[in-house]
Parts: sequence; C-alpha cells; structure tokens
Amino acid sequence: MSTKVELPMEASNETILRAIGLKRVFGKGNAAVTALSDVHLEIPMGSMVALKGRSGSGKTTLLNMLSALDEPTEGQVFFRGREVTRMSGKDRSVFRRKEIGLVFQSFGLIPLMNAYENVEFGLRVAGTPVKGNRAAAEQALERVGMRERMKHRPAELSGGEQQRVAIARAIAHEPVLLIADEPTAELDSKMGIQVMRVFRELVKYSGMTVVLTTHDPGIMELVDHVIALEDGKIVSQTTND
Ligand SMILES: Nc1ncnc2c1ncn2[C@@H]1O[C@H](COP(=O)(O)OP(=O)(O)O)[C@@H](O)[C@H]1O
Ligand SMILES: [Mg+2]
Repeated sequence: MSTKVELPMEASNETILRAIGLKRVFGKGNAAVTALSDVHLEIPMGSMVALKGRSGSGKTTLLNMLSALDEPTEGQVFFRGREVTRMSGKDRSVFRRKEIGLVFQSFGLIPLMNAYENVEFGLRVAGTPVKGNRAAAEQALERVGMRERMKHRPAELSGGEQQRVAIARAIAHEPVLLIADEPTAELDSKMGIQVMRVFRELVKYSGMTVVLTTHDPGIMELVDHVIALEDGKIVSQTTND
C-alpha cells in the first residue's frame, strides 16, 4: 500500500453557493404553504456551514434548492457563478451527479451489500465509467476510516460507521460540495462528533464544502458558519472562530 502525505488545502476566497431572494411555496390557493422566503446567502468554498432551526423551519427545503433537487418559486441559485436555477432538467441532473454528494439522516445503505459494494454501486448508479470504480470506492472508504471494514454489511456496523460508509458513497465521485440533511440526528453524540471529524477532514484535505442541517448545539460549534432559519426566513448568520 502506498502512503500518501496529504497537505491541507489553501483557503480560497471563492463563493461556491450564492442564493438570491429564494422563495418556495408548496401547494396552491388556500392550501399554499410558504416554506421559504426572502433567503439570501453566500457560502465560501472550503467551509463547513450548518443550517439550524426547529422542525418545519425550512432547512430541508433550502438544502433541496441548493442541491438543485427542487426549484424555487422565486429567486436564483448560483454555483461557482453558474446559475443553477436556469439550467435545463438534463443539465441540472448532470450538474448534481458530478458536483454534489448527498448524505441523509437515515444512511440509506442497501442491507444485502457490504460497505464496499454500497459505495461501488453508488458510483455505478451515478454513471461513472466502471474502470476506476474499484479504486475510487476504496479510496473513499479510506477517507472516512472504513476501508478495513469494507467487507461488513450495514447490520454489522454501528450507526456512526454506517453513516461514514454513506459519506464514502457520497464522495466517491469526488464532488466539491457535500450536502447533508441531519447527518447526525440518529447518532449518539460521540458518533456524531466522529462524523463531523470526517467532514472536517474532507474540507481540510480535499477542499470540499460541507453544508449540513442540525438542531444539535454541540454540532453547531464544530462548523465555520451557522445560518439560523425561522419560519422559512434567515434570522441570523454567525461565524465561529
Ligand atoms: N413537499 C411539500 N409539500 C407541502 N409542504 C411542504 C413540502 N415540503 C415541505 N413542506 C412544508 O414546508 C415547511 C418547511 O419544511 P422543511 O423544509 O421540511 O423543514 P425542516 O427541514 O426545517 O424541518 C413545513 O411547513 C413543511 O410542512
Ligand atoms: Mg428537514
């Protein structure tokens, strides 16, 4: 096995995500729900950002706009200066597959596949050329500290380990942006911190940007910026030192 010496990435001044005047209304007429309104934000490349707010405050809705899974009713999203909200459906799905990795609260691993197979299958689903898949999957598992356990099935792993495998699956195609919706909500605080440590290393050594949601105050201390949402609006933006 080769030993790779990794050096921390230089800080960059680039803005990876910019949102202007986002609004998202679900439903119509009397049944209309405004899930998000008047959202403006800028996320620096190579940072870790937490969206916080109670259940129903609009966190998932906002993540879905930022990852181009959903379109705003009004407003614009820019990814490295490119307007995502103007892309065709096809361009948007190519953009998502290439540039973004997604992690969810519930891990979402396939029970009958071991950790390696889950990550490799993720690459195949994303349509990457099969040739480099084995190396890419193993490298991703290595990055999250799960290479030694790659032959284990999800049921043989702890919650924190399963989430690390899910992160490996999300980063195997080397996206620049990792979007994680409540990634630590089903973990105890020790495993939650381990997952946060994995995110921090991805930021530090791969220059990745991580945007996550949480309502855990302990997790908020571990990120660079915290954006607070209430009733679909940003009510504060703070930076940790
Ligand atoms: N697909 C949808 N259809 C209708 N209402 C929705 C939909 N998704 C979210 N909402 C509503 O939008 C608001 C924000 O939801 P959400 O973004 O899921 O909040 P959070 O992730 O902070 O819990 C809530 O009032 C929710 O009920
Ligand atoms: Mg949510």
